[in-house]
Amino acid sequence: MKILVTGGTGYIGSHTAVELLKAGFDVVLVDNLSNSYKWIADRIGRICDCKVPFIQADLRDKGSLSKVFTDHRDISGVIHFAAMKAVGESMQIPLQYYQNNLISLMNLLEVMQEKGAEHLVFSSSCTVYGAAEKLPVDESSPVLEALSPYGNTKRISEEIIRDSSATTSLKSISLRYFNPVGAHKSALIGELPMGVPNNLMPYITQTAIGKRDFLRVFGNDYPTPDGTPIRDYIHVTDLAKAHVKAIQRMTVGEQKNDWEVFNLGTGKGYSVLEIISAFEKATGVKVPWKFMERRSGDIAAIWADASLANRELNWKTELDLQDMVISAWEWEKGQDKLKRQK
Ligand code: NAD
Ligand code: WQD
Repeated sequence: MKILVTGGTGYIGSHTAVELLKAGFDVVLVDNLSNSYKWIADRIGRICDCKVPFIQADLRDKGSLSKVFTDHRDISGVIHFAAMKAVGESMQIPLQYYQNNLISLMNLLEVMQEKGAEHLVFSSSCTVYGAAEKLPVDESSPVLEALSPYGNTKRISEEIIRDSSATTSLKSISLRYFNPVGAHKSALIGELPMGVPNNLMPYITQTAIGKRDFLRVFGNDYPTPDGTPIRDYIHVTDLAKAHVKAIQRMTVGEQKNDWEVFNLGTGKGYSVLEIISAFEKATGVKVPWKFMERRSGDIAAIWADASLANRELNWKTELDLQDMVISAWEWEKGQDKLKRQK
């Protein structure tokens, strides 16, 4: 069975491609390389000892997307990762976010319908829950008004997919990720932030290796035990495996509704200070840090109730915080080696 992975050379797409190949699926990667590199496709091939077809195309261009399906007539399902994802940037250039994330999705849905591909897994985000009142959040928690244009694209995308699933032959699953971190155990693929990282884990590893002077810990006065915000960090390999389960669920016809939603998290929250100390303990490397003002838009705490995914997808996380920080560190050190060799 052949699966098209959009955003396939990106962080989560590349790890998912590996898990799909390991599970026996054929994979085609498509990406416009706006936030990733072509060599990542070769790395995926190296991990899986195979050649992975990669097509450089922009999903905003419906003709190019249609050609992908014409060239690979046997694509039966799609995992759609391709999107712009920086929350802060989306507040500066909201129209580009709406253009990219929504037009790409609508083109994809139309082309899938034209070509008879019926199964879609969509990358959604816990950002749709906003500042949830009741923790942990399960899938029945209200979807709140988005705190950023990026978050709004996820909310609107889910609605577009829900409505398409209700009126066409489309079967879909939206996966709401909490905070994906870490890297593949081979250290051949991982997160590659362009410029200064926004997210905590790459900022920690870049500080530990000396690329950044110190980590700014945004806020120490949140209503949490140590005053810093709590998130549900999930290893990217565990996250990737859930996508394989989602595709399998659809292809064997186990879906209870044509549109389903699952949270993907560990169910356990850690504060920023707990992440720093887990990193220092596991790696033996100190991370210089300073408290700074709160970052605008940050919420105090969120973590997942992922019991629906555990039950329905027959999936559970296998890797813990130590695996997350060590794999992120191994990946960072690999980047550094690569640069020094050049
Ligand atoms: P990423 O930037 O590493 O991967 C996304 C890929 O999509 C990139 O390789 C980029 O070049 C590509 N892309 C973007 N627009 C495209 C277009 N128009 N046509 C073709 N390719 C395009 O990001 P990621 O962290 O792997 O995230 C994957 C998905 O998961 C995104 O939809 C993101 O919103 C979602 N998500 C990510 C996180 C996270 O913290 N990383 C959390 C929740 C949800
Ligand atoms: C985690 C914690 C920061 C950097 C974002 C998106 C969300 C989802 C995942 C896509 C927060 C603190 C961070 C730093 C810090 N993405 N922090 N210093 O904000 O929970 O979620 O990525 O859908 O939509 O909003 O993740 O890693 O940026 O932050 O103190 O340099 O680390 O304040 O408490 P976040 P993050």
